[in-house]
Amino acid sequence: MTTPGALAGQVAFVTGGGSGLGAAFVRRLAADGATVVVNDVNAANAAAMAIEVNGDTAVFDVCDSVAFDTEVDKAVERHGRLDILINNAGIAPPSDPARVELSIQNQMARMEGRIDDLVPPNSTVDLSDEDWDRMIRIHLHGTFYGTRAALRHMTPARSGVVVNVSSVLGLRPLAGAVHYAAAKAGIIALTKSVGQEVAAYGVRVNAVCPGWIDTPLLEAMDPMMMAGIVMQIPKGRLGTAGELAELVRFLSGPESSYCNGDIFAASGGFA
Ligand SMILES: NC(=O)c1ccc[n+]([C@@H]2O[C@H](COP(=O)([O-])OP(=O)(O)OC[C@H]3O[C@@H](n4cnc5c(N)ncnc54)[C@H](O)[C@@H]3O)[C@@H](O)[C@H]2O)c1
Repeated sequence: MTTPGALAGQVAFVTGGGSGLGAAFVRRLAADGATVVVNDVNAANAAAMAIEVNGDTAVFDVCDSVAFDTEVDKAVERHGRLDILINNAGIAPPSDPARVELSIQNQMARMEGRIDDLVPPNSTVDLSDEDWDRMIRIHLHGTFYGTRAALRHMTPARSGVVVNVSSVLGLRPLAGAVHYAAAKAGIIALTKSVGQEVAAYGVRVNAVCPGWIDTPLLEAMDPMMMAGIVMQIPKGRLGTAGELAELVRFLSGPESSYCNGDIFAASGGFA
């Protein structure tokens, strides 16, 4: 249960706030009174969200640690404080139709007991250095850079909240996206470590692990794969960004005062 208006006077910084989950987080925090600084690499989307909630923009790539430090400092200069950071910016592995087709053929062979017919998908073997680096940099480096930049203000103030967006795939990795799973699992370890470090100093760092949520991130997924995934979700449907925003709002406010270095899944039972 959250208290309406409990974030009045507070300043929040949301990365990847121009779309999907980030946009829902921006709206939810603003609805309870926070002034929100909307980060995104997509300047137009960041600006649209900032206008909608009467907030502010910070357009930069979260992989750029200098830009992250600078923009967080500028937000504090402009608004006088920083109370909430949501490290949300992220990407999904691109969909690969040939690999989807192979996966379906392999599933059929398994169901028919034709184990000798299985063809290795080689998702890890074929992953390039560039794709590995980009995934780890956006999710894990970006979360570290943001957390560090925010703590430089929050720890001296003995107050503040960081919410990191991991994934159920950080808790329950699936085959085929080793870089995404490793990055999201890294965010969980980062959250626990930093959450313990700052717990006694008035700062809280927690993480959410969304399940499969209906956002533009999933639009590139093959419909057959998507249907197969939904069949594995006990709730029987994708989650909504609004449902995740309620959890992020709870972790951002005074209602979650005893949550430190804690990890919260919202997955319809998938986790
Ligand atoms: N949708 C899901 O099912 C799901 C599940 C688990 C976790 N997540 C995580 O939730 C987060 C948000 O995903 P979403 O579903 O809202 O996707 P989305 O594509 O709708 O939004 C992601 C936003 O992040 C921005 N972004 C990407 N790279 C960036 C960078 N380097 N710097 C700044 N901004 C950047 C994009 O421009 C976009 O606006 C991601 O971290 C994702 O991994 C999503």
